[in-house]
Amino acid sequence: MSMSATAVAHPNIAFIKYWGNKDQKLRIPMNGSISMTLEGLETRTKVAFYPEMERDQLTIQGKPIYGEGLERVSRFLERVRRWSGNSEYARVTSQSNFPMGSGIASSASAFAALSLAASTAAGLSFTERELSRLARTGSGSASRSIPGGFVEWQAGTEHENSYAFSIAGPEHWELVDLVVVISTQPKETGSTEGHKLAPTSPLQDARVSDASRRLNLCRSAILERDFEALARIVEQDSNMMHAVMMTSQPPLFYWRPATVRMIRIVKKWRKKGLPVCSTIDAGPNVHVICLQEHSKTLKKRLLDIPDVEDVYTTYPGGGAYLLCRSSSGESEG
Ligand code: PMV
Repeated sequence: MSMSATAVAHPNIAFIKYWGNKDQKLRIPMNGSISMTLEGLETRTKVAFYPEMERDQLTIQGKPIYGEGLERVSRFLERVRRWSGNSEYARVTSQSNFPMGSGIASSASAFAALSLAASTAAGLSFTERELSRLARTGSGSASRSIPGGFVEWQAGTEHENSYAFSIAGPEHWELVDLVVVISTQPKETGSTEGHKLAPTSPLQDARVSDASRRLNLCRSAILERDFEALARIVEQDSNMMHAVMMTSQPPLFYWRPATVRMIRIVKKWRKKGLPVCSTIDAGPNVHVICLQEHSKTLKKRLLDIPDVEDVYTTYPGGGAYLLCRSSSGESEG
C-alpha cells in the first residue's frame, strides 16, 4: 500500500529581504524578513511513497528531473523520512503556473507545497509552525509561504526558533503585486549559492545590523496600512540587498537594463502622487506593489513598456493547503 498527498502553496514577495545564512545547512538566516503571500500564482505538488521504489523520482512541469535538482529534493525527503520513521522512497510531481528559477520565488511555493504534501503522505500531522520550519530547510523563503497574508519570519538562532507566522490576514490590506516579467531565462546564480557569497561583501554587516529598524518600519507600515511608509522601506531594503549582491566576490548582478528602467518609471509615478513602489528578488523581474484600485490601469501602462514580456496580477493570499490525501495512491490530486 502506498500513501500520497497533494498540496498547494503560493510564492511570496519579500518586503524586507533575507540574504545570507548563519547556518547554511539548516538555512537559519542572518536577519528576519517580512513578506506577502501571493495568490494568483501557485505550485501544486503530489508526493506518493511506494514500498517498492529504490530511489526518489521528481517531475517538474511534466519533465523528469535528475542531478542537483533531484538531490536537493531527496535530501529534503530524507528529513521527512527520519522524522516520520517511514523509509520508503517517493514519487514527487510538481506543477507551477509561472516560470521557475527566474526570481519569482518558485522555490518558496515549491518547498512549501512539498513540505505539506510530503509530511502528510508520510503520516505526520504538523502544525503551521512545524511546517514552516520544515519548509525553511528546503528553501529559506519557503518558510514564509506556509502562513497566509502578511508574514514575518523570525530569524531565530536554531531550527526550533526559526519559523514564519502571519502578522495580518490576506484581507487586512488590498495591496496588489504586479509581477513584471522582464526575462523568464533561468538565473545564472541561484539563491542557495548567492546566500553563501553574502558575507564576502563588506556591506553585509551594515545591512544585517540595520535589519531590526527596517523590520519595525515595515511591520508598522503594514499594520497601519501606510503605503508611503511601506514604499520607502521596501525600496530601501531591496536596494540594500542588491548593493550586497553587487559587492560580493564574485559580484552578482541580477538587474538588466529593463530592470533599472522599471525602477525609475515607478519612482516617477510615485512622485506624481500614485501609491506605487518596486522591489526585486534574485532575478531581473520587478515586483510593482500598488493598491487594488490602481492595479488595472498600472498593468496596462506596464505592458506598454518595451522589454516587458508579461505582467502577473497577484494579491495577498492564504497559506499552503492540502488538496487531497489517499492511502492507496490511486486517487490523483
Ligand atoms: O529562499 P531562497 O534561498 O530562494 O532565497 C530567497 C532570497 C530572496 O528572494 C532574494 C529574498 C527573499 O527574502 O525572498
